[in-house]
Amino acid sequence: MFQTFWRFRGAIAPHVWALAGGALLVVFVAAVEVALPWPMKVIVDDVLQPTGSSQLHETPAFLGLAGLSQLQLLLLAASALLAMTVLNAGADYLGTRLLNGVGERAMATIRAEVFTHLQRLSLAFHDKQRLGDLVTRTTTDVDYVRALMVSILSVLLPNVFILGFVITICVLIDPTFALIGLAVSPLLFVTVLFYRRRIKVASKEARSRDSDIAAAMSETFSSVRVMQTYTSEAHHEEDFRTRNDGRRDAGLKVIRLQSMFSPLVDIIATLGTVLVLWIGAQRVLDGTLTLGLLLVFLAYLKALYSPMKSLAKLTTVISRGQASAERIQEILDTAPAISDLPGARPAPRLAGAVELRSVSFGYHGDRHVLHGIDLTVEPGRVVAITGPTGAGKSSVVSLIPRLYDAAEGEVLLDGIDVRDLQVATVRRQISIVLQESILFRGTIYDNIAYGSEGVSREQVLAAAEAAHVDEFVRNLPLGYDTPVAERGVTLSGGQRQRIAIARALVRDTPIVILDEPTSGLDAISEQYVMRGLERLMAGRTVIVIAHRLSTLKRADRIYVLDKGRIVESGRHSELAAAGGLYSRLDSLQHAKDTPALTLVPAESGSLKTETSA
Ligand SMILES: Nc1ncnc2c1ncn2[C@@H]1O[C@H](COP(=O)(O)OP(=O)(O)O)[C@@H](O)[C@H]1O
Ligand SMILES: [Mg+2]
Repeated sequence: MFQTFWRFRGAIAPHVWALAGGALLVVFVAAVEVALPWPMKVIVDDVLQPTGSSQLHETPAFLGLAGLSQLQLLLLAASALLAMTVLNAGADYLGTRLLNGVGERAMATIRAEVFTHLQRLSLAFHDKQRLGDLVTRTTTDVDYVRALMVSILSVLLPNVFILGFVITICVLIDPTFALIGLAVSPLLFVTVLFYRRRIKVASKEARSRDSDIAAAMSETFSSVRVMQTYTSEAHHEEDFRTRNDGRRDAGLKVIRLQSMFSPLVDIIATLGTVLVLWIGAQRVLDGTLTLGLLLVFLAYLKALYSPMKSLAKLTTVISRGQASAERIQEILDTAPAISDLPGARPAPRLAGAVELRSVSFGYHGDRHVLHGIDLTVEPGRVVAITGPTGAGKSSVVSLIPRLYDAAEGEVLLDGIDVRDLQVATVRRQISIVLQESILFRGTIYDNIAYGSEGVSREQVLAAAEAAHVDEFVRNLPLGYDTPVAERGVTLSGGQRQRIAIARALVRDTPIVILDEPTSGLDAISEQYVMRGLERLMAGRTVIVIAHRLSTLKRADRIYVLDKGRIVESGRHSELAAAGGLYSRLDSLQHAKDTPALTLVPAESGSLKTETSA
């Protein structure tokens, strides 16, 4: 419980004074609450029954008020009651505000920390994570931790003090009677402990089901197009229903435990009250106890049991918070698999030489998808990688910006092992255009400038021009300020690719990686994208994954990858004649690409024919 505070001490530390102030105030409130029954006692014992046996009416003497008349006593007691209540309300207000304020602020810090940490975690981590789960961890879980911290301070802490004050006062006034009042406490304690544990387990289960649902949501709605075109809604619904039912059952179990707990505490507490009433009433009758004191005792008994009961409610908040704290900690404890090694230095401005030396790599431990890859690209050259789907082409290029680390062998940039360089300085010098370019929410301009800090508007517009983005943006009413929907679905594939190329152009990096940038495009879009790519490739080291002959022919060297191994390499003419895998892929291409007429649409101002292949 308290380790939760320790765990997040970094986020709490700046607010430690507000926290201490808030805690002091709630303890003050607790103290006043303990004092509240006393004016009543004075009224009952000294105002209403002033003629009783005098040795029992010790209160006014004890407070130095013996000389006061009944009316004065009544006035004093009533004003004291009023003053205490007002004071209490004020302290309560301030304390609650302070503690909850700290809660909100500390949580904002933790959320930011989790977000930043998640960003630093490598792809190897994110490959395994479900987005929805990460979302709940940064939102709901953080909120539950806040509830835990605030409840501990604003509910548990004052209640512990109330317990302490009340027990002390009761023992001071009448030890035997106090013992009777406390007789049922052990039973209460055992009940609390027993249920606490079970509720904690059930809450944790419910939390993980929450994540299940969030994951189902994000998986379904991130592929809503596919779902609707394949009319597979029923399948998704079924899947969601299963998870939803799981969450409901887990929630019902928590409720069952919780609702059993509170009444149980009530019954045990009433047992104690009945005991005190029974013995207390007899003692009032035989004159060994004043009625006022019995009332104080009864009020205290309530004060004694209500903390136990609020602990019952707290149980859920605390267990839930603890489970959430663990889930957040899990993320924060995950060390980024890819981080700067000690002694890593900033990468110099790279000339662009890339070399893979007997590199092996796998996504899951020993199951390697790349075996002994040797690949060299000289600065400013174009190297193509081709091969069947699943051969490992994308995996090869992901090692260059160190999205993953090679299991064996080394990746060298300008002859330096990438692991000896600071990751960020390496990645800043590599641009990637993927088959499907992801656009971020923002305007087209923002998307082009994405990843290049401090570029001028002219640079962005020049890149847009070069990548043929300008041609379609010109026709948009808002031009470059047109907002792009999340995931860029409002633009066509070709337009997205052109934006991605402009983005790479603005970055102006010495190394460019193209992972099948034109596959999936129609012939016309491809023409535009290809022209943008030509501009991007000029004067840079390019590694392009491609199947198109036009691209392959242009490459200074082609590597043919199959099942994670390089099976052939050389220039197009050599490979085509060698009779290996390449020539087989090549002849397939010929069959598909029988001299095609490609029309370049009128917006470019010319009509051109091109024979590919
Ligand atoms: N993120 C990943 N996690 C686990 N396995 C992967 C991942 N990406 C690719 N693979 C596997 O690695 C192998 C090579 O994939 P990839 O490099 O994408 O091939 P290509 O780009 O040539 O089609 C395939 O067997 C694929 O299933
Ligand atoms: Mg691929």
